[in-house]
Amino acid sequence: MAHARLNHLDVNFIRSCFPTFEEPLAAKTAFFENAGGSYVAGVVLDRLMHFYKVNKVQPYGAAEILHAAGEQMDHGRQTMADLLGIDSANLTLGASTTQNFNTLSIACEGFVKSTSEVIVTEQDHEANIGAWERLCERTGATLKTWKINPETAELDLADFESLLSANTAIVCMTHSSNIVGTVNPVGKVIALCRANNTFVAIDGVSYAPHLWPDIPSLKPDAYCFSTYKTYATHMGVMYTGEALRAKLTPQCHYFNRGYAYKLLDSTGPDHAAIAALAGLGEYFSNAHKHHFGSSELSLYDKAQQVSALMHTHETTLCEQLLTGIAGLPLRIVGRNHSEGREANIALTSAQFSSAELSKHLAKNNIAAGNGDFYATRLLEKAGINNTEDGVLRISFSHYNTSEETDRVIQALNTIH
Ligand SMILES: Cc1ncc(COP(=O)(O)O)c(C=O)c1O
Repeated sequence: MAHARLNHLDVNFIRSCFPTFEEPLAAKTAFFENAGGSYVAGVVLDRLMHFYKVNKVQPYGAAEILHAAGEQMDHGRQTMADLLGIDSANLTLGASTTQNFNTLSIACEGFVKSTSEVIVTEQDHEANIGAWERLCERTGATLKTWKINPETAELDLADFESLLSANTAIVCMTHSSNIVGTVNPVGKVIALCRANNTFVAIDGVSYAPHLWPDIPSLKPDAYCFSTYKTYATHMGVMYTGEALRAKLTPQCHYFNRGYAYKLLDSTGPDHAAIAALAGLGEYFSNAHKHHFGSSELSLYDKAQQVSALMHTHETTLCEQLLTGIAGLPLRIVGRNHSEGREANIALTSAQFSSAELSKHLAKNNIAAGNGDFYATRLLEKAGINNTEDGVLRISFSHYNTSEETDRVIQALNTIH
């Protein structure tokens, strides 16, 4: 029977979809390391297990067992395309986002010239800086950096506009940083770039777990994120639009060049991990049914609606945390309120190292790591000189609860 429409996320239902919570270690741990990788939905695990157990074979072929393996992989790939509302020809499934950006940047070598300019930001993870820096070194193009405001660690759109020129070939930026959490004005950047004949590659790794990307509305040229942070298997998802793909040098085997979706296949990712992506569609569908009742909506619409509920829930917890620690001698990197940011809080203490904070939380069965989280350049520019100790990062997922958030608040208050 269809449930009445719920206008909030039913966290008990959500947690029941993650078998990890039944494990003793996870049951006693308040898990706030989600930006490093989330727990995996049970329906994804079931498909992964099924593939490994039943169809761990060379996929595609006449024999039933081979055919079934290929079918599951096709289903996984199509489900991801449907969840994103894109044509599966525009979808590359790679081993990780680092690998996808690396492949994409190499594929740009044909049109990035010595007179070209490439813009990266100081706010990005190294995956979306280093690859483009290396492209510039190889081609002789000029690398321009969109700098952060060192006080707020945020990016100012006016600074970007002053960097954009007739020579800008490609702009690479994060949708929201894995440290700062502010949602960047990527829509405005894309509009400016489109008018300037400049391609835009967006890193959505830190954004997608909090708010499912809306690629059809944004219309970027490339958009990457990692499904091991969106409650699924360890893969890198990369969308590329046709206009950009037409300019790219294929990175696949020569005999695969006729297939748009294989153009950027520079590795053969885990077959089971691809097949298991179908479970993510099932997860969003089940969550949609629970909150909205039976529906004929597309997977894309369902994911958007469920994700909006997840986001509201996380934002409430984020505000709870920020209010609960407001009086402590802490520096929040980025905004000290939840508006316009993701529930991913990085902080330093005036009294304790970030490693000490992390260990103190661990003693209280709270998992939250410290370090630079591969955003080393950002930390340096934000004035956090000991990047190894870095920040304490408390990153939420939609399955976190108010009680867990209170535990973090209490632990941080106790140590200070
Ligand atoms: C913002 C951001 N971009 C890129 C990456 C790299 O993703 P992957 O681990 O899939 O290579 C990460 C990983 O943590 C990240 O947080």
